Amino acid sequence: MNKLLVSLALTLGVATAAHAVEGNAEAGQAKAAVCGACHGADGNSPAPNFPKLAGQGERYLLKQITDIKEGRRTVIEMTGILDGMSEQDMADVAAYFASQTASLGAADPALAARGEEIFRGGNLETGLPACTGCHSPTGQGNPPAGYPHLAGQHATYTAKQLTDFREGNRTNDGDSMIMRTVASRLSNKDIEAVASYIQGLR
Ligand code: HEC
Ligand code: HEC
Repeated sequence: MNKLLVSLALTLGVATAAHAVEGNAEAGQAKAAVCGACHGADGNSPAPNFPKLAGQGERYLLKQITDIKEGRRTVIEMTGILDGMSEQDMADVAAYFASQTASLGAADPALAARGEEIFRGGNLETGLPACTGCHSPTGQGNPPAGYPHLAGQHATYTAKQLTDFREGNRTNDGDSMIMRTVASRLSNKDIEAVASYIQGLR
């Protein structure tokens, strides 16, 4: 009887923990030190190919970190880095970067108008939806839904993601394949323009 109760309690405990790992931003700061070399200590990476994590939605961050750790998204640069991290560590790091403020960027004036057209209006001819519907008119995303914040992100990184989605090199957008579908309707020129516009968005 005792044994049964103990194992029941353990089962319930584990089940609850799996769904309720609460991130702690303060605890996450020290655990994020190893990430700072590439992503910047506060999540504002200085290099255009390393994504900014500052101000990104916590839910989106945790999903990406988990996807990268478990191999659903390939980031060669991060090989091994997440191996020793527990679910709690990853939640804490996600909470830490989410609590930081994203730095601002600028758009290339030659590309901004075309980029804005795509971002706000999509393209009726190709059936491209506007990005604003999910990523919000200011590019803040929809944190509770897990739709990422885009505003101010490095254009080089954004363009690579859109190309990766289009070419099938990034496939962790779920069974609905939202971003693979969106990206399949973007030309290289569209990608360059919308990525530049997003970098200047605030
Ligand atoms: C050696 C450099 C390097 C280190 C160290 C590193 N990363 Fe990364 N990380 C990258 C690169 C490069 C990408 C983007 C790869 C791509 O183009 O898809 C990335 C992508 C990510 C993303 C996806 C961002 C997005 O907007 O989708 C997250 C989240 C992330 N890293 C978290 C972390 C965390 C947490 C750590 C520390 C535990 C860490 N990274 C350490 C290089 C690094
Ligand atoms: C129907 C909703 C929806 C629409 C419309 C949409 N997106 Fe997304 N987007 C998402 C979701 C959800 C993700 C996160 C996928 C994942 O979990 O990996 C995402 C991810 C992204 C990423 C990767 C962000 C990162 O940090 O790596 C970029 C870039 C992006 N979208 C750009 C766009 C652009 C540009 C448009 C318009 C041309 C657009 N999206 C339209 C839902 C949408």
